[in-house]
Amino acid sequence: MVGVTDAKPAQANADDVVIATKAGLLRTGPDVWVPLGHPSYLRQQCELSLRRLGVEAIDLFQLHRVDPAYPLEDQVGELAKLRDEGKVRHVGLSEVSIAQVEEARAVTDIATVQNLFNLTTRDAEPLLDYCEAEGIGFIPWFPLATGELSKQDGPLAQAATEHGAEPAQLALAWLLRRSPAVLPIPGTKSVDHLESNVAAAGIELSDDEFAALDAVR
Ligand SMILES: NC(=O)c1ccc[n+]([C@@H]2O[C@H](COP(=O)([O-])OP(=O)(O)OC[C@H]3O[C@@H](n4cnc5c(N)ncnc54)[C@H](OP(=O)(O)O)[C@@H]3O)[C@@H](O)[C@H]2O)c1
Repeated sequence: MVGVTDAKPAQANADDVVIATKAGLLRTGPDVWVPLGHPSYLRQQCELSLRRLGVEAIDLFQLHRVDPAYPLEDQVGELAKLRDEGKVRHVGLSEVSIAQVEEARAVTDIATVQNLFNLTTRDAEPLLDYCEAEGIGFIPWFPLATGELSKQDGPLAQAATEHGAEPAQLALAWLLRRSPAVLPIPGTKSVDHLESNVAAAGIELSDDEFAALDAVR
């Protein structure tokens, strides 16, 4: 899956690529993120992403944040309308509580939930368990803790040496082993790192290895 933060003009329509993006936050300046869940704005962002990406439908369109200024059912309802119109294939949520997921599911099917989660930040653990039980994909953002877990002298350095793997690979292997619902989205500007991160999906952790990593917090 490819996550698109700032969609650029592209022929991003390869058959074997799943494209995911979000709407619901304004960027009014550096490091400024303002929720805006007006349904018309969500629709506008979808239309603009379709144009920039050069695709007929966005595989996964996520509500970036629930905006308390508008009813949740209107925000999720607009995404459901876009899906019904064929502009979106699946609807997802981001940074939500279990109660909000349940409220959204009363409106429409929710394919995925994207919340902050990694080896060292696990507040979303109950939500992850809920998603697994309900058959909803869980997309942990900051899977590498913005790079802290991928450092050669970071908390996973020793385990990585013992395992003959990169620290980032172990962080991702732990996430994948934690739940079959998990789909990590590590960010990178390096093709080498991209290839290494993809290879992490082939790492199978033993119970002992998983428990040892689980103790790193
Ligand atoms: N839903 C939300 O509200 C939300 C909020 C924030 C972020 N996100 C999403 O979360 C995703 C990940 O965010 P992120 O990229 O900021 O954090 P991240 O994936 O936790 O960490 C990325 C950092 O790790 C480094 N890295 C990646 N692979 C590596 C490797 N194999 N070896 C060494 N270093 C490696 C990268 O550097 P290099 O470039 O040098 O590889 C980069 O500095 C993005 O798709 C983003 O859109 C979602």
